[in-house]
Amino acid sequence: MINKCLFPAAGYGTRFLPATKAVPKEMLPVLTKPLLQYGVEEALLAGISNMAIITGRGKRAIEDHFDNAFELESQLIETSKEHLLKEIKEIIASSTFTYVRQNKMLGLGDAILTGKPLIGNEPFAVILADDLCDYSDKGIIANMVKIYKKYKCPIIAIEEVPIEKTQKYGVISGKILEENSDLYEVMDMVEKPSPEKAPSNMAIIGRYILTPDIFDILKTIKPDSNGEIQLTDALRVQARNKKVIAYKFKGTRFDCGTVKGYLDASNYFAKKISL
Ligand code: UTP
Repeated sequence: MINKCLFPAAGYGTRFLPATKAVPKEMLPVLTKPLLQYGVEEALLAGISNMAIITGRGKRAIEDHFDNAFELESQLIETSKEHLLKEIKEIIASSTFTYVRQNKMLGLGDAILTGKPLIGNEPFAVILADDLCDYSDKGIIANMVKIYKKYKCPIIAIEEVPIEKTQKYGVISGKILEENSDLYEVMDMVEKPSPEKAPSNMAIIGRYILTPDIFDILKTIKPDSNGEIQLTDALRVQARNKKVIAYKFKGTRFDCGTVKGYLDASNYFAKKISL
């Protein structure tokens, strides 16, 4: 039912300059794998094989990564290093990749709208690859697909954050949907509120299941004071008109869009394999 996953990956990654001057932020590696590959693996685990990627100028390394590399492969074939390409070759063989370029980096909402020609008129998953998640089950998106199948409405992943950090996130207010569940019906949401104005400490993280009506709503959203179109503003409109569910996921998340989060992720995954 959810066949496509959208990966907005057109941002400038300014917090990682100068590393991101010529290398896309989404291609920065945690151990040996680029962030975006972790995201694609999470989508595949959820049974989604159609990857729709929003790119921009200077992001061609993304396309090259998810394509065959005949010269390299023929150099490594039947050598002791051949296995190093096994994982990525399997991903390429089991997925389809489509791309569209965002012309101007006008924010996450605009990036999602840019993806409309790749998605069409069907519900779809969204993964922000710089929110790197570790999980013990089949992953956050797999759980969200299950929730979508039951409720057939937009689902957003949330995490409780320290109240002093609300200014970095979209924040929801919600009421619990079923007793003892991880699900909330969204009442309202605000983009980057100060702690005093935050409706709760439940922050939106980079995993969504969206329905195609979001595209028409995004067209009506005015840019914020930074000139960016915020997805949160469109979801807020949607939540006023229909059910939007927030899913408090279980697992560990790293904000790899920041140097601290990226370092923490690298240390965490290194420890996990006893490096
Ligand atoms: P971020 O705000 O974390 O990415 O957006 P950024 O703008 O690249 O980061 P900084 O602040 O300059 O360091 C979250 C995701 O949305 C994508 C980014 O590529 C990232 O994966 N994005 C953001 C777009 O695709 N287009 C945009 O206009 C903005």
